[in-house]
Amino acid sequence: MAFLFLLSLLTICAAKPQDLQDKMFTFPQETNTAHVTLTTAKQNFGAVTVCLRSFTDLTRDHSLFSLATPNHDNHLLLYKTNNGIQLSIRDIAVLFPWLDYKVNTWHSICTTWDSVSGVAQLWLDRKHTARKYVTSGSHISGPVVIVLGQEQDSPGGGFVLAESFTGMLSDVHMWNHTVPRQDILNYMDNSFFSPGNVLDWLDLEFQIVGRVLVEER
Ligand SMILES: *[C@@H]1O[C@H](CO)[C@@H](O)[C@H](O)[C@H]1NC(C)=O
Repeated sequence: MAFLFLLSLLTICAAKPQDLQDKMFTFPQETNTAHVTLTTAKQNFGAVTVCLRSFTDLTRDHSLFSLATPNHDNHLLLYKTNNGIQLSIRDIAVLFPWLDYKVNTWHSICTTWDSVSGVAQLWLDRKHTARKYVTSGSHISGPVVIVLGQEQDSPGGGFVLAESFTGMLSDVHMWNHTVPRQDILNYMDNSFFSPGNVLDWLDLEFQIVGRVLVEER
């Protein structure tokens, strides 16, 4: 176990950042193994914004963005359920229901949360949800393991087929603050916005495990 951890740490360290402009990760096969690990030097967040674009034909539950730490498997989790999109912070989940999340469609999704108010909000294709209290007081603090394509039940593992993602993901960004409304709308519109300072799609350090492809979008 310690050896595996060391090994994965070494491979992660070896990954060079890449500019993925106009590219996407394709997850072409339903597995409980294929995933992408995203690496960041930042490990402590008093607030966060995560944005990404997704395309899938899944009608079952699936993970969109999974950040785990040794203390909390769902330290920050974006998860599509039957009823909407669920955001978990520090294992506490809130549901944003009644979203117009269609299959076989590119969707732009952003979510914000800050530890002072504890309030989160989700944006789907320029429409925002009601603001909701999740949890407040504590920062998200690492070591963080960020995974696309699978939902972590332990840092870097505990994947379940029924929660995996298939389809395409693109333009993944993460910030250590709540991004202002206008910048979120610019992200949605594919116009200018300041790229993520935690995860930046144009300078992304990542490691692919299993059948995941980097393709032109
Ligand atoms: C976000 O990260 C930057 C660079 O590390 C840092 O200067 C800034 O204070 C951080 N912002 C917050 C709100 O923590």
